[in-house]
Amino acid sequence: MSKQIQPVRGMNDVLPAEIGVWQHVERLARAVFDSYGYQEVRVPIVEHTELFKRSIGEFTDIVEKEMYTFQDVGGDSLTLRPEATAGIARCAISNGMLRGARHKLWCMGPMFRHERPQKGRYRQFYQIDLEALGFAGPDVDLELIALTARLWRELKLSRVRLMINSLGTPNARAAYRERLVQYFQARQAELDEDSLRRLGGNPLRILDSKNPAMQAVIADAPLLSEHLDPESQAHLAALSAGLTALGISYEVNPRLVRGLDYYSRTVFEWVTDALGAQDAVCSGGRYDGLIAQLGGEATPAIGFAMGLERVVALVAQGEAVAAAAGPEVYIVANGERPELRAAQLAEQLRDALPGRAVLLNLGGGNFKTQLRRADRSGARLALILGDAELDRGVAAVKPLRSEGSQIDCPLGELPARIASFL
Ligand code: HAM
Repeated sequence: MSKQIQPVRGMNDVLPAEIGVWQHVERLARAVFDSYGYQEVRVPIVEHTELFKRSIGEFTDIVEKEMYTFQDVGGDSLTLRPEATAGIARCAISNGMLRGARHKLWCMGPMFRHERPQKGRYRQFYQIDLEALGFAGPDVDLELIALTARLWRELKLSRVRLMINSLGTPNARAAYRERLVQYFQARQAELDEDSLRRLGGNPLRILDSKNPAMQAVIADAPLLSEHLDPESQAHLAALSAGLTALGISYEVNPRLVRGLDYYSRTVFEWVTDALGAQDAVCSGGRYDGLIAQLGGEATPAIGFAMGLERVVALVAQGEAVAAAAGPEVYIVANGERPELRAAQLAEQLRDALPGRAVLLNLGGGNFKTQLRRADRSGARLALILGDAELDRGVAAVKPLRSEGSQIDCPLGELPARIASFL
């Protein structure tokens, strides 16, 4: 036997046995997005590398070391998208969608980051991403968070907590950044290798360090909240008041800085204690400067993305999700003439029962083998067609999941009779 080809590390198959929970989450998310007036957009998985460098930021972990970047045969540097926000902003600019217009958009699909794989952290992972373009907030900030809270309720997730913070305007952040650099430079001896590297490029990310040895120096660091401009303070206060009015619990976490550079003002994260180290289920924030930075007209915007694997894991821990409905009918046929008639019947039943699965036995086999397959398929009814039944113009109908005996039913009446039985 030749050597098996292994899957790429950190990239998973989602098998039919697991797909029910994924589809459940996706279905509820679509319904919630519809109810807030968000529309689906589909953007490419591959973009010019420059897009991510200019949006996520040169000194972020993602751009520095996690991107799947390659040169295509034409010599262009392309990258598998590590996130969706940059692509959606690019799409709005490329298609002339802005010009004062506002858009409520969402998209779903795989993202790629060359991170160290562990439970809940993968190299290919799925995000459900939602973006509101052209809204200055804080009303839309509140609506976005209310939307996520609604989705958790619909999914019956209770072990999620909301953290919010404000990163202020770019000016306030720049002033804070300077203070932070001075502070960490004065305590350089206490910094680990990662933090020393970040000190030059992205000192705010030092605050995000998970290294226990760094926690003391981080705890004494100056707080961004002490450097917030009055407008950003008012924005955060209005969001907080809105959350209280809607009965959504939250915690202001002054250390919440996020790993992408495009944020300003509101940032938020839903975290859980039910998944171990990878605790962020859904994260996002406002990025008022990004679209102008990418060459579009200045447009305020806010969005978030949730990690689908993490949401699915949380849902799977909770109440059982009803398995996807099994097939309704399995058609068993033996002999050349019955098999042809069975193929016709299967098509007629699919016409009569839209959305219900009608399985036709494939690959022959005697009646016993076929009925065993019918039983394993989970179907509720088996229809049995042999030469004897065809001669009488009937099919035998056998209930597989309930008591009740096998009966004959005229072939012409089958679609209507089965529709009424189901
Ligand atoms: P992010 O925090 O990088 O933000 O990712 C959002 C979510 O994706 C995380 O909270 C987590 O649930 C999930 N996630 C991230 N990396 C992985 C991974 N390696 N494996 C599994 N799940 C992962 C963004 O991507 C922003 N684009 C969010 C946003 C949208 N901000 C504004 N609009």
